[in-house]
Amino acid sequence: MSEEDVRGDGGLEARLEEQETFEPPESFVEQANVTDESIYEEFEEEWPQCWEQAADLLEWDEPYDTVLEDEEAPFYEWFTGGNLNASYNCLDRHVEDGAKNRAAIKWEGELGETRTYTYGDLLNEVEAFAATLRDLGVEEDDVVTLYMPMIPELPIAMLACARIGAPHSAVFAGFSADALATRMNSADSEYLVTCDGYYRRGDALDHLSKTNEGLEDVEHEVSDVVVVDRLGDDLEHSLADNQHDYDELVDEHAGASVEPVSRDAEDMLFLMYTSGTTGQPKGVKHTTGGYLSYAAWTSQAVLDIKPEDTYWCSADIGWITGHSYIVYGPLALGTTTVMYEGTPDYPDKDRLWEIVENHRVDIFYTAPTAIRAFMKWGAEYPDQHDLSSLRLLGTVGEPINPRAWKWYYQNIGNEECPVVDTWWQTETGGMMVTTLPGVNTMKPGSAGPPLPGVDARIVDAAGEEVEAGNAGYLTVQKPWPGMLRTLYNNDERFISEYWQEYSDEEADEWVYFPEDGAKIDDDGYITVLGRVDDVINVSGHRLGTMEIESAIVGVSGVAEAAVVGGEHDIKGEAVYTYVIPEDGYEGGDDLREQIVEAVEDAIGPIARPEEVVFTPELPKTRSGKIMRRLLEDIASGNELGNTSTLRNPEVVEDIAEQVQGD
Ligand code: WTA
Repeated sequence: MSEEDVRGDGGLEARLEEQETFEPPESFVEQANVTDESIYEEFEEEWPQCWEQAADLLEWDEPYDTVLEDEEAPFYEWFTGGNLNASYNCLDRHVEDGAKNRAAIKWEGELGETRTYTYGDLLNEVEAFAATLRDLGVEEDDVVTLYMPMIPELPIAMLACARIGAPHSAVFAGFSADALATRMNSADSEYLVTCDGYYRRGDALDHLSKTNEGLEDVEHEVSDVVVVDRLGDDLEHSLADNQHDYDELVDEHAGASVEPVSRDAEDMLFLMYTSGTTGQPKGVKHTTGGYLSYAAWTSQAVLDIKPEDTYWCSADIGWITGHSYIVYGPLALGTTTVMYEGTPDYPDKDRLWEIVENHRVDIFYTAPTAIRAFMKWGAEYPDQHDLSSLRLLGTVGEPINPRAWKWYYQNIGNEECPVVDTWWQTETGGMMVTTLPGVNTMKPGSAGPPLPGVDARIVDAAGEEVEAGNAGYLTVQKPWPGMLRTLYNNDERFISEYWQEYSDEEADEWVYFPEDGAKIDDDGYITVLGRVDDVINVSGHRLGTMEIESAIVGVSGVAEAAVVGGEHDIKGEAVYTYVIPEDGYEGGDDLREQIVEAVEDAIGPIARPEEVVFTPELPKTRSGKIMRRLLEDIASGNELGNTSTLRNPEVVEDIAEQVQGD
């Protein structure tokens, strides 16, 4: 198969044709956590026992008896029989080991204020909030929703939940009120931790009103809402009867000691909702033993984290990247993790580099969309700062184009830091395909080989492995500890979304399908091409086109809508919407505004359409299917192929002219 068959966008082939390669710098290799390439063979030969190495990074209350239980595949279980607590592993044991005074979290607010929590401080805070949650009535296995921006109370709340065995479900603070309600309803969550507001480019955003709006649409009774006072305004007057001031409750519980609850390895640690092909977000379930082991192991092997490091991942904790690689992985390893509340260009475009310099950051992990923005702003911003503390750079969330990769390598890493391009998903819990920075040659644009022990293969539509040089579909053919266990309350959808496509049920051979297209080269390096389902990736954020479409068709005056992703210089992809107005309605600015508003209300500003194109018809095949591929090509400004198989080829030109101009 060619790349074109898998995914419409061309160009990548040409970009990779003269792919340069880079070797890991000697200075890095000398000190790296993993330097021996025999690890690949070792993990293959000793699979699945190899994953004991991950479990060994944790302290278990009760040792596990079985590494992998595959009796009920694809409902795999890892480290069965074992018991542990995630908060204990991220806090207490480091304090017991003498790291009480080591910084655990270094937080910087957008306005420039800073807070440092040592491991000792963090443990105290977590215990006080865990005691608070218990007092409010939160019991083991109750789902607690966390709707918070990048403030320290978010990881504190996560770890407090983990301590008492209450799974958390974090909802990205930029999501809309509707999105909050949908997730609370789906998880039947009766407890919520939120805040009054936060800062964006110097302005205070009102988060409490949005929260309250969302709460109106929650179908069950919400027992308690805890509100963090971030803005310093008088909170009391704005709180309803079941709403409490975080600080007051925590003060009352200061000094509390809360024994970490011993959880079964397979007990749920958290839920994380993510977009899928239908309008309903999927509640991805992660467990305590497998997930935490995998987050810790990949943090050590790929991010090369050591306890004495200052490590910074600039993602938001409201997404999986922040869960695994700001909170759980780094804290399990006892390192110092940096958190930044704000935007990279406030007050100026050197804000991130100022943070790197001030905190002497060793490892920096970000998204390609951010790198493309840095590139556009220019090298003069990083040049103003001493970035010599950096040792390793990473990217995640979307394909990185070789040009952005090289810019990052040269201008941020000064050609002295390896760059790891890590492919993974909310569902995989941790990294799956990437180079090991102390071992492998780097090839900009390609993520790299699958990690040791990860059986990722590229297959064609029939499920046969493609030959080197070809494109196909990315699959994972063996389970791994960090994998999702199911979709919350929806085992059926878990099977149909991930395991139906390429598994042979009768032979009990299960193949995980992440719904990404990819290419493989002679060295087994994988270049991820992007989603092959109806999900688009805007600035590294996964959005379901169906979710957006259903918001748009709810606007009166809209008869039909099609949403696709189109290429975008900075965002990677942007949302393009094609709308057929109802008879008697004009497709004009008014309707456009209502459509944009409806999308922001349903999902949030991240889903805001780049363009709304009105058209009397959508291009359809003779059997009546919308030709999405063609709409994507129009949005991306690609040359349009043969349209003769369409029922209505004449509409194409009209639409293309509106989008691309003439
Ligand atoms: C995409 C984010 C190319 C991919 C951790 C995947 C990537 C989706 C990469 C998951 C990468 C993530 N190269 N594509 N290095 N990393 N993706 O669940 O399409 O928010 O399926 O998890 O992002 O997005 P999610």
